[in-house]
Amino acid sequence: MPEWDTVRLEFDDDDDVATLTVDRPDRLNALNVETLRALRDAISEAESEDARALVLTGAGEKAFIAGADISHMQDLSTTEAQEYAELGHDVADMLESFPAPAIAAVNGYAFGGGCELALACDLRVASENAVIGQTEIDLGIIPGWGGTQRLARVVGDELARRLIFFGERIDAQDAHEMGLVGEVVAHDQIDAHVEEMARDLAKRPAFALQAAKEALNQTHEGTQSAGLRYERRLWSSLFGTHDQREGMAAFLDDREPEFK
Ligand code: COA
Repeated sequence: MPEWDTVRLEFDDDDDVATLTVDRPDRLNALNVETLRALRDAISEAESEDARALVLTGAGEKAFIAGADISHMQDLSTTEAQEYAELGHDVADMLESFPAPAIAAVNGYAFGGGCELALACDLRVASENAVIGQTEIDLGIIPGWGGTQRLARVVGDELARRLIFFGERIDAQDAHEMGLVGEVVAHDQIDAHVEEMARDLAKRPAFALQAAKEALNQTHEGTQSAGLRYERRLWSSLFGTHDQREGMAAFLDDREPEFK
């Protein structure tokens, strides 16, 4: 199996559960180019090994992933920033489309790109010490690896705007209350707990899980303008039906409608 300096890929005894650990604890697992490339390769490797569940976590006691690497980003040109964004998007997309469930074990700080990679996973479990946020606004930028799209889908539009506009850093309990993480567990339990979840998933019918994931992902597809066009078509197609004629006539006649 290939090896990378800043990412570890390990399998359980049955070779079913792949655990990806971002391993840069001295930088709180911040994602520089090398680490993003390693993540991309390691996710491909897990897929080619037919992993039936994938876990993403961070090395050390403090952080899941403290975000994109700010020292790398500081002097990027627009073109370089585009390349960096593409790399981050690739990794997030690969997690989202991984053919088996992906679980983020959020075992500490998950800011910026860390929050975004967690959002690209199917499920999120946080440890009690986790602190999560799309904090980019304080760096003069916005979430650039999918956070503007995925956060709103998870917590709702208004809350996502609040979190992104204010760059709020929220604790695990608040994250749970807003539905950003599915559950909170003690810090010393998170690895075992997530491993158990992943093993449980790995025992279930793999094709059905993949189909469920694909179908659920489909609800995220399509643009708002396409949705609005669809709505307009559906709305106007109802005109001329019995129920539309009857409903409006009944209102104007001030009587109860008789629908078919
Ligand atoms: N990029 C690059 N380096 C980072 C980093 C990041 N996103 N997050 C942390 N580091 C580095 C720190 O610069 C520090 O390096 P140093 O030891 O050379 O000084 C090291 O990791 C440890 O971090 P430190 O800030 O000393 O730890 P802390 O416990 O005091 O604070 C955080 C932890 C996560 C609260 C704080 O590091 C932080 O706010 N990081 C930035 C988070 C962020 O905005 N991420 C979004 C990026 S888009």
